[in-house]
Amino acid sequence: MIKNIGLFDSGVGGLTVAKELMRAFPWLNIFYFGDTARLPYGNKSPRTITAYSKEIASFLLGKNVEMLVVACNTSSSIALGELERELPVPVVGMIKPGAKSAAERSESGRIGLIGTRATVASGAYEKEIRALNPSATVFSKACPLFVPLVEEGFAEDPVAEMVAARYLAPVLENGPDTLILGCTHYPMLIPVLRKAAPGVSLVSSGEATTEYLMEEHGFPRGKGPDEKGFLEIFVTDGGTHFKEVAEALLGKKIELEEVSLERLVTG
Ligand code: DGL
Repeated sequence: MIKNIGLFDSGVGGLTVAKELMRAFPWLNIFYFGDTARLPYGNKSPRTITAYSKEIASFLLGKNVEMLVVACNTSSSIALGELERELPVPVVGMIKPGAKSAAERSESGRIGLIGTRATVASGAYEKEIRALNPSATVFSKACPLFVPLVEEGFAEDPVAEMVAARYLAPVLENGPDTLILGCTHYPMLIPVLRKAAPGVSLVSSGEATTEYLMEEHGFPRGKGPDEKGFLEIFVTDGGTHFKEVAEALLGKKIELEEVSLERLVTG
């Protein structure tokens, strides 16, 4: 049975996934990596996103993780195939779980998708959703301002409401009944997104991945026979708002270990 997993994101967003996993699987040991020095990933090229993802994966493998959860939709859209081919442990991305959850939930087959530029441009969600429901239609919109708003602690600020209304308008015009939050930062915007898209069912990576790990990897939900797990957090730059935003999200004090880019790149 898997006990130690690695989880990574460009920043604090992947902690929305870690939080759900800790709730469902309190026995799990999570090594979390936030690449705060190089965030955001969503506006970068596939080559850069893949290179960063591979560096982090190799750091986390050094912690003897038995599975890698790519808690970043951008890396999942771009680098998952390469990580799966190269790593000696199972790799779980965000796209399959999110697409499955949305395809099952949507009654009309009209599905909205919001994410970073790279995620939307990759077409990864459309591909997975069509494989599950060929008659589904996906209406997507890149929302590059959302990640900095969350990282700066502005997730519930009126400025986030204005940005959300602007980004969601063209998606909502198409009348989706389900909206995929195709970026792990976005669950922190849920109050704002609910207001902007009333009556639309929101799919978050964290919940979808929890279901996926239960169904596909046999993770047992609940306390389990084992001792309580832990969350260890590494960041490439401690001089950001990561700590405050992470503590507000997790509802507890956390310690960060800083890993310099030099150490990350040279191994
Ligand atoms: N949380 C990442 C994602 O899921 C954010 C990407 C970024 O850094 O732009 O896509």
